[in-house]
Amino acid sequence: MKKTVTIKANNKEYKLPVVIGTEKEKGIDISKLRAESGYITLDPGYTNTGSCESSITYTNGEKGILRYRGIPIEELARKSDFIEVADLLIWGTLPDKGMRKRFTDMLTNNALLHEGLKHHFEGFPFDAHPMAMLSAMVNALSCYHPVLAQPHNPREIEKAAAILISQIRTITAFSYKMSRGEPFIYPKPKYSYAENLLYMMFSLPHEHYEVHPEVKRAVDLILILHADHEQNCSTSTVRMVASSGANLFASISAGIAALWGHLHGGANQAAIEMLEEIHSGNMNVKQYIKMAKDKNNSFRLMGFGHRVYKNYDPRAMILKKLSKKVFNVLKHKDPLLDIALELEDIALNDPYFIERKLYPNVDFYSGLIYRAIGVPKNMFPVFFAIGRLPGWIAHWKEATNNNRLQIARPRQIYVGPAKQGYVPISKRSTK
Ligand code: SDX
Repeated sequence: MKKTVTIKANNKEYKLPVVIGTEKEKGIDISKLRAESGYITLDPGYTNTGSCESSITYTNGEKGILRYRGIPIEELARKSDFIEVADLLIWGTLPDKGMRKRFTDMLTNNALLHEGLKHHFEGFPFDAHPMAMLSAMVNALSCYHPVLAQPHNPREIEKAAAILISQIRTITAFSYKMSRGEPFIYPKPKYSYAENLLYMMFSLPHEHYEVHPEVKRAVDLILILHADHEQNCSTSTVRMVASSGANLFASISAGIAALWGHLHGGANQAAIEMLEEIHSGNMNVKQYIKMAKDKNNSFRLMGFGHRVYKNYDPRAMILKKLSKKVFNVLKHKDPLLDIALELEDIALNDPYFIERKLYPNVDFYSGLIYRAIGVPKNMFPVFFAIGRLPGWIAHWKEATNNNRLQIARPRQIYVGPAKQGYVPISKRSTK
């Protein structure tokens, strides 16, 4: 017997079906609510509203659980690598040796940008924000792969995914080189995914450069941790744009734009800027905490709090340990780490943060690791985008993978002026 809930309205009762998820999450299906009762629901920020049923990622914010296709993030962090996780997210299973080699070869064979695309960099100012360039360049990619912009079969999706996942690295590295006036460095087939990203960014033609093994492992792990996170703002953006029938590259480009916001993927850059501000001595930790608690101040503690996690973000837990490990192997010292630990300690013992269940999130420690390996602040959100790309592709595929695409079109409650007539300018009062 299908489970239902009953709501009372208009002196009538309306039975609404209940959808129950794998982990027993319950949702009220309101798809017929307006037709039957005339009511819509209102939920700014969609705090209580599910947009879809999805099989890709499960999070439980109360318990601090994150699983990709059912596999806990802690296990993937210990045992997997980013390209295997990308396969898992996009295709739903861990790849066998043949699938793994096939996709790795496709990434290698699609690492080069079309030479025409390279000239776009000449048009950007040298200090352009790399997230603006990334969003523009991903959209421009579709001009060179029009048939792959609207992939309809698994082979086309695989090819488009390989181009995007491989070339997002090249675009990132080229925008970094352009900002420094250094020559573009081309990828080396023998290098792993993260290794090639760092090699293209940091090597120079006139000197030997090798990526530290612990650094390449750390970047690979950071990309795993960022690979998906169910219906977050940027992923929902990708699904929303996909619902209009827009192509994969345009949907990903929109996702990059949404991720850039300081409340979302831009928080890793904002968190470091906050720590730098404290380190500069302008304000101390306690003053920042006071400002963050002040209702009349819009300031938020960057890297803290989460719409879903009302417990420690499992990714932040892993990143906190990883930051100490990377600092150790690089014999790197950074006063910002001590400030971050002090900030966390004070916040986690402050009733304001305890009552609101505000914990460090994925963006609180990641910036410290990027800083240690020499990534500039404005590229922190770009590294987030590189990690999130497989998740976006998986969600684009899931959202478009049905024969009847349903355009996403939320309703509203209108609160503007009631009906009024047009007033000719001669009769309008001058303010
Ligand atoms: C990411 O959704 C995802 O999954 C995102 C992400 C992913 O992987 O895709 O996990 C990545 O975006 C992580 C979040 C990065 N953003 C930040 O670190 C920015 C700082 N955090 C906040 O802006 C905030 O916590 C959000 C945006 C993350 C969540 O905001 P919500 O869910 O809308 O929470 P809210 O604004 O309703 O806050 C509830 C209360 C409020 O106080 P009251 O009005 O109840 O008194 O908590 C307070 C807020 O003022 N609050 C904070 C705070 N975060 C929430 N107060 C101070 N500092 C903060 N950081």
